[in-house]
Amino acid sequence: MVFTKSAPLRGEITVPGDKSISHRAVMLGALAKGTTSVTNFLKGADCLSTISCFEKMGIEIEQLSSEILIHGKGLHGLQPPKTVLDAGNSGTTTRLLSGILAGQSFATTLTGDASIQKRPMTRIITPLSQMGGQIESLSGNGCAPLRITGHSLTPIHYVSPVSSAQVKSCILLAGMYAEGITKVTEPYLSRNHSELMLRSFGACVTSKGTTAAISGNPVLEGQKVIVPGDISSAAYFIAAGLLIPGSEILIKDVGINPTRDGILKVCEEMGADIQLLNKRKYCQEPVADILVKHSHLKSTIIEGARIPTLIDELPIIAVMAAFAEGTTIIRDAQELKVKESNRLDIIVQHLSAMGADITATEDGMEIRGGNPLKGAILDSCLDHRIAMSFAIAGMAAHGETEILNASCVDISYPEFYRDLAQLSGSTRC
Ligand code: S3P
Repeated sequence: MVFTKSAPLRGEITVPGDKSISHRAVMLGALAKGTTSVTNFLKGADCLSTISCFEKMGIEIEQLSSEILIHGKGLHGLQPPKTVLDAGNSGTTTRLLSGILAGQSFATTLTGDASIQKRPMTRIITPLSQMGGQIESLSGNGCAPLRITGHSLTPIHYVSPVSSAQVKSCILLAGMYAEGITKVTEPYLSRNHSELMLRSFGACVTSKGTTAAISGNPVLEGQKVIVPGDISSAAYFIAAGLLIPGSEILIKDVGINPTRDGILKVCEEMGADIQLLNKRKYCQEPVADILVKHSHLKSTIIEGARIPTLIDELPIIAVMAAFAEGTTIIRDAQELKVKESNRLDIIVQHLSAMGADITATEDGMEIRGGNPLKGAILDSCLDHRIAMSFAIAGMAAHGETEILNASCVDISYPEFYRDLAQLSGSTRC
């Protein structure tokens, strides 16, 4: 896929449903009594992997044009699957599902693609084992495939070394199968979609500071879930609107949960002209329309508690920083090394290839921005967020940028290139 300097992006766009919330709606819908309807469900490859895992465990899921219907069977209604469960490229499926599988009365094998088989699972194996779960990395390297032998679980208070919603949610979901109260404390607060949705399905979940707690054996009732637009997908249009002169984009119905809105705060600090309009809530999740206008950006510092609130947006933030005046410093972002790819390395390599002045650090990067970038041939390394971030970089740079393995955007945003082309008035796609 080839990108060149873009005409102004102007108009309205609605981005697909939030990936994190879509996964959770399927999982809780499957474990609830009755039917859960999910509107604006993200039909990206990751969430389809979650659907297919639950279908293999006997859950009927209807994918209609305007909604999906999950016919839940209650907390103890899953059936042993006949085959291995395949999470594809999805860390959320792998880690959250492991928490659920640890509490079942049957054994399963859970695996995924080559990227998933390299991602660290010790972070969930450790707490699940402390709860009495039996979970084994079959290749002995702490990664998937995982053999999970369901067990009765005991509650723990886990103090997690990482701020990770996947770890936190895994433990909370396992906590449903433990008698008593299971708690997780993390260094900084990560996204809280699990806590909000568990509560709306009827579980007793409390949150205080960076500790979340769940009472075991909840009765979950099917719900009507409306999924907000994914702020992680909106981030590419926010960046494009800010970077491409003459642009003005209204991104409608975007989730702005404060545990996810770090990109908005960073953009504000960078001097971006962004307005949040029509603020409201969809099922406890705050939502707004985001109006973005081309702006002259300046550098900022991103670190600490803010990192989990923008963890998936760091690739596109790095792109923005390369165009911003001054030196942007990103610290405490070592988690980027264990995402769908080693995003720290790839961002530095790709921005360097485009002529940016950037240095990798132990836990982040320093970007001395403001110099014009030039096009380059860049491999997505099968990482959807790398592909989308560098497509935008290519539209703001001089010359031609070719993204190799560009179709991996299917993971979270199958229509990304079409939507981008529509806004720029181009006929490319
Ligand atoms: C997610 C949490 C984040 C994020 C991932 C989705 C989730 O991962 O990077 O894309 O849905 O819980 P970590 O919780 O491991 O940081």
